[in-house]
Amino acid sequence: MKRKFFPAAIAAALWPSVSALPAQTPAVVAPAAIQTQARESPLFSARGSQFADSVLKLMTLDEKIGQLNQSPGEGSQTGPRVPAGGEALIRAGRIGSFLGIWGADYTRGLQRVATQESRLRIPLLFAMDVIHGFRTIYPVPLAEAASFDPARVEFSARQAAVEATAHGLHWTFAPMVDIARDPRWGRIVEGAGEDPYLGSSMSAARVWGFQGGDSALGIGAPDALLATVKHFAAYGGAEGGRDYNSVELTERTLWETYLPPYEAAVRAGVAFVMASFNDIGGTPSHASDWLFGDVLRQRWGFRGAVVSDWGGISELIPHGVAANRGEAGILGLRAGIDIDMSDNVYIDSLGAAVRSGKIPQALVDSAVHRVLRIKYALGLFQDPYRFNDVARERRYTLAPEHLVASRLAAREGIVLLKNSAKTLPLRKDTHTIAVIGPLADDRRSSLGGWAADGHPDETLTVLAGVRAAVGPSVRVIYARGSPVDTADTTGLAAARDAAAQADAIVLVLGETESMSSEASSRSSIELPGLQLELARAVLRAARRSTAFVQTDTTPKPVAVVLMNGRPLAIPELAREAPAIIESWFLGSQHGAAVADVLFGDYNPGGKLPVTFPRVTGQIPIYYNHRNTGRPSDTANHYTSKYLDLPSSPLFPFGYGLSYTTFAYSNLHLSSATIAAGDSLEVSVDVKNSGDRGGDEVVQLYVRDDVASVEEPVKRLVGFQRIASRAGDTRTVTFRIRPQSLALYDRQMRRVVEPGTFTVFVGTSSDDVLTAHFTVTGDVLVLASPPTRFR
Ligand code: BGC
Repeated sequence: MKRKFFPAAIAAALWPSVSALPAQTPAVVAPAAIQTQARESPLFSARGSQFADSVLKLMTLDEKIGQLNQSPGEGSQTGPRVPAGGEALIRAGRIGSFLGIWGADYTRGLQRVATQESRLRIPLLFAMDVIHGFRTIYPVPLAEAASFDPARVEFSARQAAVEATAHGLHWTFAPMVDIARDPRWGRIVEGAGEDPYLGSSMSAARVWGFQGGDSALGIGAPDALLATVKHFAAYGGAEGGRDYNSVELTERTLWETYLPPYEAAVRAGVAFVMASFNDIGGTPSHASDWLFGDVLRQRWGFRGAVVSDWGGISELIPHGVAANRGEAGILGLRAGIDIDMSDNVYIDSLGAAVRSGKIPQALVDSAVHRVLRIKYALGLFQDPYRFNDVARERRYTLAPEHLVASRLAAREGIVLLKNSAKTLPLRKDTHTIAVIGPLADDRRSSLGGWAADGHPDETLTVLAGVRAAVGPSVRVIYARGSPVDTADTTGLAAARDAAAQADAIVLVLGETESMSSEASSRSSIELPGLQLELARAVLRAARRSTAFVQTDTTPKPVAVVLMNGRPLAIPELAREAPAIIESWFLGSQHGAAVADVLFGDYNPGGKLPVTFPRVTGQIPIYYNHRNTGRPSDTANHYTSKYLDLPSSPLFPFGYGLSYTTFAYSNLHLSSATIAAGDSLEVSVDVKNSGDRGGDEVVQLYVRDDVASVEEPVKRLVGFQRIASRAGDTRTVTFRIRPQSLALYDRQMRRVVEPGTFTVFVGTSSDDVLTAHFTVTGDVLVLASPPTRFR
C-alpha cells in the first residue's frame, strides 16, 4: 500500500497539536540504542522483550492471568468508573486493562493504585472504541471511505488519537475493516464498504493515523493510540446480513475479498487484532488456531497481541464447540486469543487449567509477554502517568483545529447522487427555506453510531447548518414531518404547509444512527416508516399540484439529504426527487458540511464505497462479481437475471456527481506488452469541463480476461482524488504492479498469469474508458499457497 501524506500546508495549519506536545519522556533504554533500532517498531524492540522476560519471572500464575483480563467500566453521572470492587482487583494484580474508562485525572488515580499498591506495580492499559473520533466526532467510517482520500482519513484518526490520549486512553478498538456485501448488515457503517482495495487503503491509513505513523511519531509518543484491526475474520459476511450470524465462504473468496484489509493493517504495524463473533463454515473465530496461528502470525508475521470481542470466548458454548467456560477458555487461549475482553473466563478458569496440565503454562506466558511488551513500548513502566496530563486534556478537547478538520472530512464524504436541471446548489438569497424531515434536527444521529465521548449538544444538525449558512436575513422554517420509523401521520400536514410556503426545500430523510451499527440489521433497506409518503407530500406541494406528476423537476428547488449508515433502496425517490445528496452520518460538523454542499460553498466529490441496490431482494449485489457463463442479457431469457428487476444497481460502486463535469480522454498504457513481474504505467487526461472547480476520484480497475480461475468482471486497483479548476486538464498516472494483476490460482498460489488484461479508468465502476495489454512469459508465483482452512 503506497502511503500518501496529507498536504503539508494543510497539516501545518490544522495540526499544531503534534509539534506542541511535550517530547517523549526519557525511557530506561539509552537514546543511542533506540537510534540503532531505527524503523523497528517499539512494540518489538529487543529491550522490550528482555524487560518482559524479567517481569514474567517475578509473576505468579494468577498475576499472569490478571494481565490477560480486560474489565469494562461502568457509566456514572460523573463519567465512567470502575465497577465496585475494581480497585481491589487492581491491587491484587487481577486486571491488566480496562475498557471504556477515560479521563486524565481519573485514570491517573487508577494507574496510581496499579503502580503503587499492587505487588509488581505493573501499569494498566486503558482502551476504548474510538472509531470515528473521541469528543470531536468525524464522519462514520463508511462516509470517510466515500471520500476516497486515505490521507484525509489518516489525519482524522491522528487527531482522534491526540484527543483520546489526552484523556488517558492508550488503545482503540479500530479500525474495523470488515468487507460487507450485504447492506442489511448494520455494521456496514463501521467499515469501508464492499471493496478490498479501498478497504485496505482505509485500513492502513487509520492504523498510521492512530498510531502516529511509522516514524519517530509512532508508538511510544504520548499521543500515539494503539490500534486494533477487527473483526478477524470475515464478520461482514454474515448470512442474510443478520448480525453475529454464521459465514459461509469459499477459501478463495476469503483470501481474495475478505482478508486483504486485515493484512493491510498488519503490514501497517497495527498493535492488536480483535477476533470476530462469527464462525466461518463451523469454526468460530475465537477457537480458530488457523486464523490466529497459520494466517495471522505465520503467514503475515503479526507480532502484536490478540483480544477477544466482548464475551466472545464464552460464546464458544452456544456455538457448540465448548461444553463450559473452562473448555471455552482453553480453546480461546489455544487459538491465540491473548486478552479476554469483559468475559472473566480466563481469570476464572485458566489457573485451574494450567495447574491440572490441561494447558501448558508456556501459552499463558507468551500471551502475558506480549501484553508486557506493549506496556513497555508505551513507556508506562518508565512513567505510568504519561497519558494523564489535565492541561493537555483541556487543550485538545474539541480543539478548534479538530473541528475544522472534522468539517473538511465531512464535506469530502458527501456524495451527490442526483442533480436534475442544476437544482443544486441552492441560492442563499432565497426568501424562505423549508427544512423538513425527521432527521433534519436529530443531533444524536448526526454524530453517527460510535460517538465515543461525543456530545449531541456539541453537534450541528442540517437545520442548524442551513440556518448558520444563510444568516438571519433568510427565513428558515422547520417541520419534522413523519417520524423516521413509525406510521404516525400527524406531522404530514405541517410539512406540506412548510413546503408550500417556502421558495426552496431541504428534505432530510433516512435512518437514525441506531438503525445501523451493532445488532442493527434490517430485513429491508427501503426508507423506513412513512418517509416516502412524506417525500411524496413535499414534492407534490413543491409542484403546486395535487396530482403526483411523473417529472423530476419542481418549480421550486427540492434537495433531498439522505442520512444513513448503509445503502438505501430508494428507486422512487431517485426517480422523483430533483436532487439527492448522500450525507451518511458526518459527526460534530454534520450540518455545516451539508450546508457547505447545499449552497455551493463546497463542490461535492465523494463516491459510493458500496453499491446501492434497487430493492432489498437484489442483495447481494456488488461491482466486482464474477461474470458467470450466462451474464445478464435482457435480449436473452436464459441468462442470469431476475424477471422483475433490471440487473444493474440503482447507483454503482464508485458513483458520485459533482457541480462540475469531468471529461476523460487519452487513456494511455506505457506498453502493450509486459513480462510477468513487470509494472505498467497508465495515464489518462481528466478535464474539468464544467464551470467551477471541483474534486474528482479517478478510478483504475483491471480484469484478467482469461485466467485459470474465473476472475471478477473488474477489480479496483488504484484511485486518486484530484482537485482541478474549471477548464483545467490534469494528466493522472497510475502504476500497475504485479500484485495488482495477481490472483489465487487453483492451488491457491498467488500468481500472475500470462495473457490479456483489460484496464478500465473512469469516474465510477460503470463509466470507464478501456484499454488492453498482454502479459508474456511464464506464470509468476508471488506467494505459495496458504495452509488449508480448518
Ligand atoms: C463489538 C466490538 C467492540 C467491543 C467493545 C463489541 O460488542 O463487536 O466491535 O470493539 O464490543 O466495545
